[in-house]
Amino acid sequence: MTLQIFRTKPIDSSDEDSHGLSRCLSAWDLAFLGIGAIIGTGIFVLTGIAAATQAGPAVVVSFILAGLACAFAALSYAELSAAVGGCGSAYGYSYAAFGELCAFIIGWDLLLEYGISVAAVANGWAGYFNNALTAIGLPLPELLTKAPKLGGIINLPASGIILALMGLLILGVKQSAKANNAMVLVKLLTITVFIVVAVFNVHPENWQPFMPFGWFQTLPDGKTTGVLAGASLVFFAYVGFDAVSTATAEAKNPQRDLPFGIITSLGFCTIIYIIVSGLLTGVVPYTDLNVSSPVAHALSLIGFNAASALVATGVIAGLTTVMLVLYYALTRIIFAMSIDGLLSPFFNKVNPHTQTPVRIIVLCGVIMAVIAGLIPLGDLAELVNIGTLAAFVLVCFGAIVLRITKPDMPRPFRTPFSPLMPILGMLSCGALMGFLPAITWLRFAVWLLIGLIVYFVYSMHHSKLMRGEG
Ligand code: ALA
Repeated sequence: MTLQIFRTKPIDSSDEDSHGLSRCLSAWDLAFLGIGAIIGTGIFVLTGIAAATQAGPAVVVSFILAGLACAFAALSYAELSAAVGGCGSAYGYSYAAFGELCAFIIGWDLLLEYGISVAAVANGWAGYFNNALTAIGLPLPELLTKAPKLGGIINLPASGIILALMGLLILGVKQSAKANNAMVLVKLLTITVFIVVAVFNVHPENWQPFMPFGWFQTLPDGKTTGVLAGASLVFFAYVGFDAVSTATAEAKNPQRDLPFGIITSLGFCTIIYIIVSGLLTGVVPYTDLNVSSPVAHALSLIGFNAASALVATGVIAGLTTVMLVLYYALTRIIFAMSIDGLLSPFFNKVNPHTQTPVRIIVLCGVIMAVIAGLIPLGDLAELVNIGTLAAFVLVCFGAIVLRITKPDMPRPFRTPFSPLMPILGMLSCGALMGFLPAITWLRFAVWLLIGLIVYFVYSMHHSKLMRGEG
């Protein structure tokens, strides 16, 4: 038996490598996929919470800091997505850079990131959806709109939207990308409406005091506050640009288009976030923003009820795209891990009619629907952030390691000023992890421990690489 620890062959863009998936996504489809995944609960819900409880008007600084950390990491993502490829994103890069165990841990970490993200965003979506039903006089019984911890039985809309998306993803990736593009346009229109109204209604006195909670402090109850803690929370708003890198097997020209998709979507969204968060705290006092729909709420507070309703509707479409793309990414990572033998081969069957991995889509859909129905948003978002930040740190490190171990590997996109940029990515993402509360670290450790057990009990013995088939 040959014990081969590293992949030796960069994954190319041949049809063979797509394992039965269909190569149909263009560069702009990928950029839209990124924007679809990025702009969501972070800007539409968490900005208000972060402004009211952690950063005040300086939430805009939190967004800039989190955006910078992501930008450093995005460059490494762009380099590796074009050079290494593979439909498993950071999972595939870790395979190439560090070998199997590390790749498994990152893959396991990404399952947490994407799976819990979908459930978290479904909660944000349900908040806006329930408000809309109430506004048109058709409210659902309260017990069916809240998780048990918040006094309900189940958050039915949150579960329901995930099951609906499950159906869409089964239908096929091109259909999903088309639906995604349409909803991204609605989302951008919504943001435009907010910006146009807000820009004429700013009261600069709302920006004073600018930094009421300081830079960072830990409160007696263990929660964290300040601009840096705010950056760790609003980091959630950027989660998703990495999802573009999971579409390698379905991109028409991955080497050229993935870096474009990743960098374009992240750059665009960062600018939007700085504008929206700055305006939001300019139109109303930050203390009014601790609500489940702060952007729509701010417009209604300044008397623009029609614009508020329009924004709320657009947000419902916007959050749908986030769930769709992250759900898609989750299924593709499981697919990649299953192809490599680290998860059961049961998961890598592609339905010949729809060309989609139906078994994974259904299994993930059902599990996420249950989580979304039973666990509230607050408990989910920080867990997503710690998992994502850990993946970013390793991707940056992987970019440095591969420059040393495989200097001649073709790199259609090269991170400028390497290794400075990846080092800055590791430091800034690591620092953001440090500003998260201790309970989040504990939950993350438990998830990783479960992963290690799975690896040593199952994956290690079934891995294709270990059996010399990789
Ligand atoms: N970035 C995504 C959002 O904010 C996950 O909803």
